[in-house]
Amino acid sequence: MKLTLLSLVAAAALCACESTHDSDQKSKPKPTGDQTATKTTTKTGEKAGEVTHAEARLSPASGSQVTGTVMFTQVPAGMEVRAHIEHLTPGKHGFHIHEKGDCSAPDASSAGGHFNPDDHKHGDRTAAERHEGDLGNLVANDKGVAEVTFVDTALSFTGKHSILGRAVIVHTDPDDLKSQPVGNAGGRVACGVIEQR
Ligand code: CU
Ligand code: ZN
Repeated sequence: MKLTLLSLVAAAALCACESTHDSDQKSKPKPTGDQTATKTTTKTGEKAGEVTHAEARLSPASGSQVTGTVMFTQVPAGMEVRAHIEHLTPGKHGFHIHEKGDCSAPDASSAGGHFNPDDHKHGDRTAAERHEGDLGNLVANDKGVAEVTFVDTALSFTGKHSILGRAVIVHTDPDDLKSQPVGNAGGRVACGVIEQR
């Protein structure tokens, strides 16, 4: 059966070639297809050097016990942010990226203000106007654990909007998402520098 089919296909192919010389010319772009494949490989190679994942490991500040990890992963829709924070007081806590990756001060004041490369007003993460670093609130359960995952479209690993080398800060109080310039979120209970992992 196989042989018969092959013979038929071969015969058909021969017929096609013999009957139309035009179709031969039309099939010329084939080598271009091969070149495209080569280019794609090169692009993939370049992408290997790009940052696609970073993490901030948070340490306590202002005498708190708060610790945790915030992972940033580039995904097609934007930046996936995945946070797991422990030893918080139950309820809402302001959650931001601050300008300087410096957690050395005991109260984490060394991290500076909210990361705001476009000189916007403070707001909610989903608001039309916000600091790039405005990530809203974490909500800790009755065990003091806050877990959240979302995809944000403002965050980047490149250019002046890059969050690499900046700091994640968790606050004592809720961010009211409107007070200027920092949402009245109170002191800083945890701080961690965003680093490529
Ligand atoms: Cu903050
Ligand atoms: Zn802000």
